[in-house]
Amino acid sequence: MLMNRVERLEVRSRLRTHRLHRRVFPAFERLADPAAFRGCTVLEVGCGPGRAAEWALGRGAGRVVAIDADPRMVALAARRLRGTPGGVRVELGEASDTGLADATVDVALELQVLHHVTHWQAAIDELARVLRPGGSLLFEDSTAEALSEQWWSRTVLTHPRDNRFSTEQFTDQLQSTGLVVDAVEQLVPGRWFLGAAHRPGPPAPRPT
Ligand SMILES: C[S@@+](CC[C@H](N)C(=O)[O-])C[C@H]1O[C@@H](n2cnc3c(N)ncnc32)[C@H](O)[C@@H]1O
Repeated sequence: MLMNRVERLEVRSRLRTHRLHRRVFPAFERLADPAAFRGCTVLEVGCGPGRAAEWALGRGAGRVVAIDADPRMVALAARRLRGTPGGVRVELGEASDTGLADATVDVALELQVLHHVTHWQAAIDELARVLRPGGSLLFEDSTAEALSEQWWSRTVLTHPRDNRFSTEQFTDQLQSTGLVVDAVEQLVPGRWFLGAAHRPGPPAPRPT
C-alpha cells in the first residue's frame, strides 16, 4: 500500500533524516561488517527518497539497485542519487517481485517498507531469494502494535490493517526462508525494531 500525502511528507522530513542518521545507520554500521559494502551489489526495496541507497554508496557499494512501488518516490530517489559514484539503478518495482536473478545481491536493505506490504511474507521470501550465500539483510520496521496503538499511525497514516507483524513474527519469517538472524534491536520496545540477518554459505570473493 502506497503512502498517503502526510507520510510522503514525513518520509522526506528532517525527523526521518535525523532518525536514520542518529539511530538506524549507526546501528547498521555496528551490525554489518565494515567491509560488507565495498564493491558489492546492494538492493534497497521501498527506497522512498533514496537515503539508504545514498548511505550504502557512501560506504563503498559498487552497484545499487533501488526500487519503489511509487513513481513519485522513484523520481525523488533518482534525483538524490544522480551523479553519485558507483552504478545506480532506480526503478519502479515491487518488494515481492524485484525481477532480480537468484543469489545476485550482497546486501539487501529494507527500511520501513514491509509494514506497507499487504503480503509482507512474500517480500521476505523475495529478499532471501536474491541474497547471495554470505549476503546480508539489514532491516528496520514497525510492528502491528505501533500501527494500531500510536494515534499518529492509527488516525493519520494509511497502512494495511490485516496480517501485520510483531518483531518475533518478522524474524520467524526470516528464519523460515533459511536466513540466519544475527541481531535484533528494539528502538522502541515492541514497536520499532531493526536488525541483521544473513544467508548462510561461503561468501563470494570481493573486489580488493
Ligand atoms: C515509510 S516509506 C520508507 C522509505 C525509505 N525506505 C526510508 O526509510 O526512508 C515506505 C516506502 O515503501 C514503498 N512501498 C510500499 N509498498 C511497496 C511495495 N509493495 N514494493 C515496493 N515499495 C513499496 C513506498 O512507496 C514508500 O516509498
